[in-house]
Amino acid sequence: MDDVYSVYEDLYDLPKFIHSEVLADRFLYDYCAQRRYFVNVLPYTKSRHALLSPTFGDAELYWRIIGGGVGDSLRQNFITTAQSHVERYVQNVDLGEVEPVAFLENRFQFGDLEHIHRGLLFIGRVRNFDDRDLIDSLPTSRGHFVPFSIDGSPPNLPEIYMQDAFNHAVKVADRALVLVNQDHEIDSNEESRGRYIFHETVVKPAMKLASRIFGEHSIAQFESTVSAELLKSGPQSIFDIACGENKSLISLVEGGQTSMFVGNDISWSQIGLIDSSSDPERFRNSNGIIFFTNNDGRRLPFADRVFDVAICKNVLHHMPDGKSVQALLSELKRVSKKSVVIEVMDPKFESPWGRLRHRYYMEFLKDAGGNFLSRSEFADLMRRYDPVNSYEISTFRGVYQFAIMENIDP
Ligand SMILES: C[S@@+](CC[C@H](N)C(=O)[O-])C[C@H]1O[C@@H](n2cnc3c(N)ncnc32)[C@H](O)[C@@H]1O
Repeated sequence: MDDVYSVYEDLYDLPKFIHSEVLADRFLYDYCAQRRYFVNVLPYTKSRHALLSPTFGDAELYWRIIGGGVGDSLRQNFITTAQSHVERYVQNVDLGEVEPVAFLENRFQFGDLEHIHRGLLFIGRVRNFDDRDLIDSLPTSRGHFVPFSIDGSPPNLPEIYMQDAFNHAVKVADRALVLVNQDHEIDSNEESRGRYIFHETVVKPAMKLASRIFGEHSIAQFESTVSAELLKSGPQSIFDIACGENKSLISLVEGGQTSMFVGNDISWSQIGLIDSSSDPERFRNSNGIIFFTNNDGRRLPFADRVFDVAICKNVLHHMPDGKSVQALLSELKRVSKKSVVIEVMDPKFESPWGRLRHRYYMEFLKDAGGNFLSRSEFADLMRRYDPVNSYEISTFRGVYQFAIMENIDP
């Protein structure tokens, strides 16, 4: 757990809210000392309601952000604990991005002793279509969706630090709600899960085998070009802004070529295809760290230039509009020292193979991305980001356009 928490501290640029308490009772102190990590989670809906739980304190009724301890067992981690807390409160909740927004620290003192509980505050986007029904159907004894507004008076939480944390969390949630939502994308990924398993276990290996006859145009050759481009500067860390179900970059950590791979995607169901355990914080000590996150690539909570290299492969055509493309590319560039953008060219301008592949993705896998760029559109777009290098690679699947951007230290 210490290791996982320190990865959060290294990667995320989040405020910290601290609470100190002097305990009058040694037994209470010993009780506190049994746990070290906790999560709080604030589920929020598109009608700007956040789930809070009513609680008594000092003979008064207050609101509380739900959460609890994180065990040290291997099967538990921060994100899954946050998800399970939400599920305990709201049946049939359809949870989208679960994103960390703050570090929390509870310092308990008794005499000369001090024990620190370290926590993470997450927000979780509730995707249920009709969130009015969800709000009305909650059992009143457990929790309520309470309206929030970033400039109105906030619901009353007992501790000041939690009130501050809440005010910060709803500001982040409010910004997330401004983006055009990509729920259709997440839905279609979830609906096609079975097809993706077939794709991963049958179609991909068969294609890989068949593509050997294409020599330098084969998929294997293409993937090794991608890896070589990523590894050129000898990076310690690689970030994939939308890894989907693609396992190929994980092998770079497993093969010892880099010591950290962070795979992000807006759909947990896609990440779950990489590893059947769907463990978001899959963590390895032997060769390095493999970490999965569930952020919208258009608004990343990571610190500036925290990754040596970032990749955005086959993702631009999934962006719902031009603003989203620009937000995604700006975030990619901000969080990395160097970034590699790879986009397949619009299949309209492609070989019959390319068009067939496109139909397979759209009609069989129900892939939601359809906003492909032509060669000149991609070049025009990338010019705005000062790519230091750009080139194309032709494979039997189609033409891939590469652009490499550098984020010069200010
Ligand atoms: C065609 S897949 C590409 C996956 C992988 N990069 C590859 O090359 O195989 C596109 C992925 O983008 C993800 N995606 C779409 N919009 C996103 C967003 N705003 N933020 C993060 N991921 C997103 C989808 O869930 C999907 O897994």
